[in-house]
Amino acid sequence: VEAEQTADPPVADGRAGLPPAAATAAARVLRRCDEVAGCTESPGRVCRRYGTAALTAAMDLIAGWMRDAGLETRRDAIGNLIGRSPGGNPDAPAFALGSHLDSVPDGGRYDGALGVLVAIEAVAGMTAGGAALPFRLEVVAFADEEGARFHTTYLGSRAYAGRFDPALLDRTDADGASLASACADFGGHPDRLVASCSPLPVLGYLEVHIEQGPALEALGAPLGIVTAIAGQTRAAVGFRGEAGHAGTVAMALRRDALAAAAEAVLSAERLAQETPALLATVGRIDVLPGASNVVPGAARITLDVRSPNDAVRKDAVRSLRGACVDAGERRNVGVDWEVVQDDPATAMDAGLSGGLAASLAAVGLPVHRLPSGAGHDAVVMAEICPVAMLFVRCAGGISHHPDEAVAAGDVAAAVAVVSDFLRSRIGSFNPGVDGGNAPGRVEP
Ligand code: GLV
Ligand code: MN
Ligand code: MN
Repeated sequence: VEAEQTADPPVADGRAGLPPAAATAAARVLRRCDEVAGCTESPGRVCRRYGTAALTAAMDLIAGWMRDAGLETRRDAIGNLIGRSPGGNPDAPAFALGSHLDSVPDGGRYDGALGVLVAIEAVAGMTAGGAALPFRLEVVAFADEEGARFHTTYLGSRAYAGRFDPALLDRTDADGASLASACADFGGHPDRLVASCSPLPVLGYLEVHIEQGPALEALGAPLGIVTAIAGQTRAAVGFRGEAGHAGTVAMALRRDALAAAAEAVLSAERLAQETPALLATVGRIDVLPGASNVVPGAARITLDVRSPNDAVRKDAVRSLRGACVDAGERRNVGVDWEVVQDDPATAMDAGLSGGLAASLAAVGLPVHRLPSGAGHDAVVMAEICPVAMLFVRCAGGISHHPDEAVAAGDVAAAVAVVSDFLRSRIGSFNPGVDGGNAPGRVEP
């Protein structure tokens, strides 16, 4: 993390210099985050996985707020909710802002929702002010970023960006429901998920997100500009042993699938502990038949491997695959290895990030830059257009947890920065000139 601006900002943390409208907007954003948190699969906890009634309820709420903000709303083939600024040339390309609305089980109320709601405030300010841009603005609430239900992440942004792999439609959740059926039940159109859901070119993408780590808090900074997002591989590993009676099958004769999976879990932890810049997590184990007096006949684990360095991640994935196979061979247990996601480390666009830096300075805030260990929809959007991300300080660095929290003043700062960015930094934005990724062309 590096501080770019050494001169004192005009106000210690910039907040006293924020326009009063930003504080009003931030209070509304926080109230709405609370309301969206009430749309959940498990009362009292935040759980909103792809395709569930809880996610539909959250989308319905937010669609109403988008319309109140003057946006024209639509849902696309995977179920993303999109609010488009009205007026002007209907065929004009769009600059997109947004984040995701799904959550992990027992997650926090700001991961994803905060970015959608801050974007609505900033775009509403532009629409109300009658500001003319040479392109439309779109606020996108992506329907799946976490992958909590199908273990493959970014389904929403993949569909929006025209990067959806239809083979994913056959994936099943823990109850055996396919992604195709979940999509149809959610009001989507799985048969249309072969091409882009976005009918017009996307010029660029800006995502506001809670930091989910402690760096900004340690710096005493409300906001930070993301430099790059760590690469991520997700694998599903199945172990096929033999079930048997816990009281009669001799230890030497067992083919215990869970014991083999346990070796894999500890191999992943050990490798990540020993390797700089590597994180590895097994977040889920399913065991069959799952009874206390039966030797486990089958076990399935999820594996999540991340690094800012793609070579480190790839080496680790190769080595963990070997560790799974070795554990299986030692125990006479079959191993099925399936990579369900593989995304490289993703750099943010220099031109858009420079615009964000100018907006931070205009609002009186220091400019800090930091990498993201967490994955974001910006990873997929970067395949089709220049992207940038603004992080909001996270209390205690806690996220994917009910205690996730942000400060109202920091949210007000985010609203002010994004508003300035839309008003003053992107009117003349030309991705072909400002550098960074090539402008995206999205299939019709
Ligand atoms: C998303 O939250 C991820 O990084 O898994
Ligand atoms: Mn998120
Ligand atoms: Mn998350």
